[in-house]
Amino acid sequence: MKETLQNWQGTAVVMGVDWGDSGKGRLIDDLSGRADIVARFNGGSNTGHTIENEKGKFALHIMPSGIFNPEAVNLVGRNVALDLESLVAEMDVLDAARVSYENLVIDKEASLTMTWHKMRDGLREKLRGDKKVGTTGKGVGPTYADRVERVGLLARDLLDPQFEEKLKSEVEIQNQLYDLDLDHVQIAKAYKKIIDRVKKYIGNTTQIVQGAQKDSKNILFEGAQGYFLDIDAGTYPFVTSSNPGVSGVSRSFDITRDNINHVIGITKAYTTRVGEGPMPTKIEGKDADYIIKKGREVGTTTGRVRSPGWLDLVLIREAATANGLTSLAITKVDVLSGLKKISLCVEYTLDGKDTVYIPHDAEHLSRVKPVFKIFDGWDEEISDVRSFNSLPKNAQIYLLAIEEITGVPIHFISVGPYRGQVIYK
Ligand code: IMP
Repeated sequence: MKETLQNWQGTAVVMGVDWGDSGKGRLIDDLSGRADIVARFNGGSNTGHTIENEKGKFALHIMPSGIFNPEAVNLVGRNVALDLESLVAEMDVLDAARVSYENLVIDKEASLTMTWHKMRDGLREKLRGDKKVGTTGKGVGPTYADRVERVGLLARDLLDPQFEEKLKSEVEIQNQLYDLDLDHVQIAKAYKKIIDRVKKYIGNTTQIVQGAQKDSKNILFEGAQGYFLDIDAGTYPFVTSSNPGVSGVSRSFDITRDNINHVIGITKAYTTRVGEGPMPTKIEGKDADYIIKKGREVGTTTGRVRSPGWLDLVLIREAATANGLTSLAITKVDVLSGLKKISLCVEYTLDGKDTVYIPHDAEHLSRVKPVFKIFDGWDEEISDVRSFNSLPKNAQIYLLAIEEITGVPIHFISVGPYRGQVIYK
């Protein structure tokens, strides 16, 4: 039998090849039926993975998207910025929908995102004025900053009888450093409830993953955001503070690219960006309005409207090379139905000469000019289509061009928001 993503096995990574918001939650929900383990490796409550299935519609921020498969163990890796207030709120929603999360393990080495990280995030953005990054305000940057500074609280501290002492000392330091007025007694009181709720889920996730690889289990790594928000390879400083690509898997789970069978790069059939930072293929005017409305392009976490752009194949080629992509997953192809013309960015020029993407250099990306290839659109609604050959001819031509220009085969095409509205190619 031909191996498709529908019968995938081994170790797989789902990572965004854009600026996030590609529909990862939905793909993972589809793929997790075969997973023994679903493991979240980066980011924090800045991400919002939307899943619609027979249990309802869910926006997950910390909880891995494999939670709907009762057979899968769901891991939160050590390099996730662990916002426990968010996790507990997600648990409440899952409780109400009668979805069990008994198979959850949170790595004991993960750094906690605390109130002061969220306050610092907001304060820094305010002081930046018109040079702001446009963060989600979820305290993710300051959580990672403290981790790199080797300070702050870890998940394992929650199990320590000295937790209140540690919290007090950390609050005193934060108050002094940032001129805050936080009360450690109040925070400890709120955390007592959180600890009672989460302590049984804290464990060692790297050992679980290594054991599962030895036993040839199916492991699905769930990335958050997209490669061009990577702290090292993205459009710095308009990036997030973690690694959304395969290097993020190593940072959480000590698994390298050599031990991964499938690296699935996911993007919408167009692109979007939320927050500040350059996007060479930005669409203005009525096509932009059409995509925002039809694609419901409003942030899951912050409610901000996302700016749409045409798909940028220069960026996808870069992500493919740097991460060793084996598949592309293209989502929301149905949103493009009804557009007269659809553009694909195939090259960049700068001052009349060909140029490439330069990692970490937002200034360069803000100056490049996209070279577009223009395609005829299609009118048919395609949400009920289940095979590639039944798609409108122009949709097929568009998708085949993406494969040809990036050199990466498309193995998953979503044509609607619900489970099953998918073409496996
Ligand atoms: P932070 O991750 O909240 O610090 O935000 C840094 C940048 O990453 C901002 O431009 C955010 O809009 C963007 N960002 C962070 N998380 C996501 C996400 O899940 N989807 C899309 N953009 C995100």
